[in-house]
Amino acid sequence: EDSFDEECDYLFKSVMIGDSAVGKSNLLSRFSRNEFRLDSKPTIGVEFAYRNIKVGDKLIKAQIWDTAGQERFRAITSSYYRGALGALLVYDITRKATFENVKKWLRELRDFGSSDMVVVLVGNKCDLGHSREVGEEEGRDFAEEEGLCFMETSALENVNVEEAFLHMVNKIH
Ligand code: GTP
Ligand code: MG
Repeated sequence: EDSFDEECDYLFKSVMIGDSAVGKSNLLSRFSRNEFRLDSKPTIGVEFAYRNIKVGDKLIKAQIWDTAGQERFRAITSSYYRGALGALLVYDITRKATFENVKKWLRELRDFGSSDMVVVLVGNKCDLGHSREVGEEEGRDFAEEEGLCFMETSALENVNVEEAFLHMVNKIH
């Protein structure tokens, strides 16, 4: 693992954003360690995870920052976004309010993030289709209007998780 790290060609920072309990931390733990927890606690401050990814003949070290969706637990915003090349903006398909708040997160992204960041809009918890409040088309149309990539995922069932992160990393360069 360590010797592999030293051979990496690039370090890419990216960030997870979105309302509390949409599943940011579980998407990240699924991607970085193939772990999922039904009883995960809200994030306090900032956490990190890494994964090495091969893109063509280059080794990319993806460094992904995860912070609290809850305002009172959030770390200072400008340092969180500094140097970030990509963002996963997550909502929960079973809670309409988390989709409505995507606009608020985009505003923060535009205030603090770099203008050329690659942003993937992620509708998580697609395993809970029976309590869906946001249609897939609704998510896709909004993403298109805003010039974002789009994907529905399930951290629980490991659906499209790898795809969402790899899509972001692949689009970065
Ligand atoms: P904050 O850290 O407070 O911002 O929340 P978060 O966005 O990191 O959410 P977290 O990953 O902690 O998940 C919140 C709850 O949703 C947990 O109970 C998870 O088990 C659950 N959860 C996360 N992803 C999924 C999913 O894909 N499907 C289902 N059914 N539950 C999920
Ligand atoms: Mg979290």
